[in-house]
Amino acid sequence: MKSQDELKKEAGYRAADLVEDGMTVGLGTGSTVRYLLDALGERIKKDGVHFIGVPTSKRTADYGRELGMEIKSLDDVDQIDITIDGADEVDPDLNGIKGGGGAQTWEKLVATNSKTCAWIVDESKVVDQLGKFPLPVEVLAYGHKQLVKRMADLGYRPEVRLVDGQPFETDEGNIIIDLHLDQIDDPYALADKLSNMTGVVEHGLFLDMTQTVVIGGQDGTKLMN
Ligand code: 5RP
Repeated sequence: MKSQDELKKEAGYRAADLVEDGMTVGLGTGSTVRYLLDALGERIKKDGVHFIGVPTSKRTADYGRELGMEIKSLDDVDQIDITIDGADEVDPDLNGIKGGGGAQTWEKLVATNSKTCAWIVDESKVVDQLGKFPLPVEVLAYGHKQLVKRMADLGYRPEVRLVDGQPFETDEGNIIIDLHLDQIDDPYALADKLSNMTGVVEHGLFLDMTQTVVIGGQDGTKLMN
């Protein structure tokens, strides 16, 4: 039986084939994406493939540069051909939860400016209904305790994400509130509600945003689209 990490690696390496010479490529964030970056780094060295990478986090930018990629900010490119990113949950409609690494704001910005998007996941991330994975919401630090109270009143079971006892800080200097919802019956209604809450920067519901999911599984790597 392959480990979850091996399945992530297989999905990441398979998705690297979606990148063609001359493309501008949105580069996601997370442990699965790290394997994608490794695979792309190998293609740069072995085959001399050249592409422009648009990172969704400082971590990805740093690692991409280390591997020899040309990295540009979203504001410095005209368009993105494809974005390849990880996900925390994916449902049969190709909707998902992202932000387990706290990078959902840049991830959504890069994804919405891409011609097409692909997610890379191991098969444990594929679910019938979204919501078991706590939904990450990036919020401004100022006033966040009031927001936590409002979310608790709405039954969202909010929890400020902590690292070593301190609030996790995003690349934009904001805070993450994780919502322990268990199941999300209407992701569109919830997305609207969260987007309309003052203080919310971006939530981790990615709806109608990806066209392909590359799934690393025990029986091989499969595509869902
Ligand atoms: C980061 C993300 C990641 O893509 C998501 O959390 C999946 O991460 P991993 O590949 O490490 O399981 O959304 O904000």
